[in-house]
Order: sequence, then structure tokens, then C-alpha cells
Amino acid sequence: MTAPYLEIKGLRMEFGDIVAVHDVTLDIRQGEFLTFLGPSGSGKSTTLYILAGFQQPTRGDILLNGRTLLDRPSYQREIGMVFQRYTLFPNMTVGENIAFPLRVRRRPKAEIDAKVREMLRLVRLEGFEDRRIGKLSGGQQQRVALARALAYDPPVLLMDEPLSALDKKLREEIQHEIRRIHQQTGVTILYVTHDQEEALRLSDRIAVFSQGRIEQVGTGAELYAHPATRFVAEFIGDSDTLPAEILATRASSPTSGSAGR
Ligand SMILES: Nc1ncnc2c1ncn2[C@@H]1O[C@H](COP(=O)(O)OP(=O)(O)OP(=O)(O)O)[C@@H](O)[C@H]1O
Ligand SMILES: [Mg+2]
Repeated sequence: MTAPYLEIKGLRMEFGDIVAVHDVTLDIRQGEFLTFLGPSGSGKSTTLYILAGFQQPTRGDILLNGRTLLDRPSYQREIGMVFQRYTLFPNMTVGENIAFPLRVRRRPKAEIDAKVREMLRLVRLEGFEDRRIGKLSGGQQQRVALARALAYDPPVLLMDEPLSALDKKLREEIQHEIRRIHQQTGVTILYVTHDQEEALRLSDRIAVFSQGRIEQVGTGAELYAHPATRFVAEFIGDSDTLPAEILATRASSPTSGSAGR
């Protein structure tokens, strides 16, 4: 068993009376693609924002390679981010957007130029370098966001519903792209979605969230075959739990009264 790479320990987040995240504990392996899956309001984004450093938790800790991240501001955590509302700079070109995180880090120009070309190839947008963001389709913008997040080789990439604004065909195309980039770069990815098909398609493991807690963590196959709770069964499966009513029992039957799934 390899040591955990990223550790979330007893994380709790309160907003006044609301407890958005209850007691989330999770180990993530290096290079893993782990998805937070759960209904609206279950605490997925809040957990991700705490990882990103946008919010300080009420309690708990996050460790990367055994060292806490909580004492470091967001920009020093070396974590890439792609969120639902693209945070690209609309007045910059594609190339300038991708170069931005490298410029901030004062990398030499030759290195930046080479990296921008490499990223454009990775997301299949060669030839778009000088195009303004406003003149791109939603899917193309999402790919630029991905390229920019990956440009400075962050060891961890956070993605919060990055595809939810796109139509089905485009979504599937970029899912494929994300999968390929994950395999090619080995970056550790934490991904948020409430779409179970997307979670099953992309993830090594899935953490099912409900009301600020993780109900179960496992591969798609594990969750499907052995759901720990009814909630997981209903959320992962195609609703194959049927409501059953016991109409009669025979006292002699050893299985009487047991209603299996
Ligand atoms: N800044 C905030 N102030 C107060 N309450 C908040 C804040 N952010 C989140 N919450 C509450 O915390 C809970 C969890 O929200 P969160 O955004 O983490 O859910 P989510 O699982 O990402 O949902 P969705 O799928 O809708 O994005 C919700 O009840 C939400 O209203
Ligand atoms: Mg959310």
C-alpha cells in the first residue's frame, strides 16, 4: 500500500447555522482521478474550494505529501483549477491566457513560448493562439481553461463541473480529452460532477457525497455492485432497488422477514 499523497482529514465547514461539510476524510493517491459525485448542495464545491484555498475550514486539515496546505495561500499551493464558469481573461488571446500563469511565475520567454505551443497541441487548439477568447465556442474556451490550468505543471488539478454548460456531444468529446490528458500527464485530478455517467466514465474512484458527508468511496464497479447505503444504490444504480412490501411470512421459513436488495 503506497502512502497517501493528498489527505483530507476531518474537514468541517460551517456557514453560520449551515454545516456545508460535516466530517470529510479521504486519501487520494498520486496520479489518481477521483470524482466527487452527489446532488446539489451536498458539499462538493465547498470541499474543493477549501482545497484550492478559497475558504478556510472550520475544522480539519489537508496534507500534501504529509505537509499541511492550510498555512499556504491559494497561489502558493501549486494547484490548477478549472471551474464551471470559465475564468479566462476575455480581452486576451488564447496564447496570452495560457501564458499567464507562467508570466506570473516569471519564467523565461522562450520557455513560455514553448509551453504555450505544447499546451495548444495537448488540447488540440493549434492555430488558435492569436484568437481572442470572445471569438471561441464554449467547448474551445473550456479547452483553453484546461490548457491554462495545466501550463505550469501543477501536481494537482481541481475541476468543478467544468462541462456542465456544454451540450452532450461536446461534453463527451472533452471528457475524452480530459481522460487522455490525465493519462498523458499523470496529474492527480479531483473532479466534481452530479452526472453519474460522467463520473463513471472518467474516474478511477468516486466519492459519493450526501448532505456534507461522504457516503462511500470506491470504483464505479464497487459502488454499483456493493452500495453501502440506499442513497448510494439509488444514486449510482439505475434505480434497481424496488420498494417491497412483505405481504405474508411463514414462521417456519428461515428467511422470513428478510428483504434483500
Ligand atoms: N458562502 C456560503 N455561505 C453560506 N452557505 C453556503 C456558502 N457556500 C455554500 N453554502 C451552502 O453549503 C451547502 C453546500 O454547498 P456546495 O456549494 O458545496 O454544494 P455542491 O455539492 O457543490 O452543490 P451544487 O451541485 O449545486 O454545485 C449548501 O447548502 C450551500 O447553500
Ligand atoms: Mg457545486
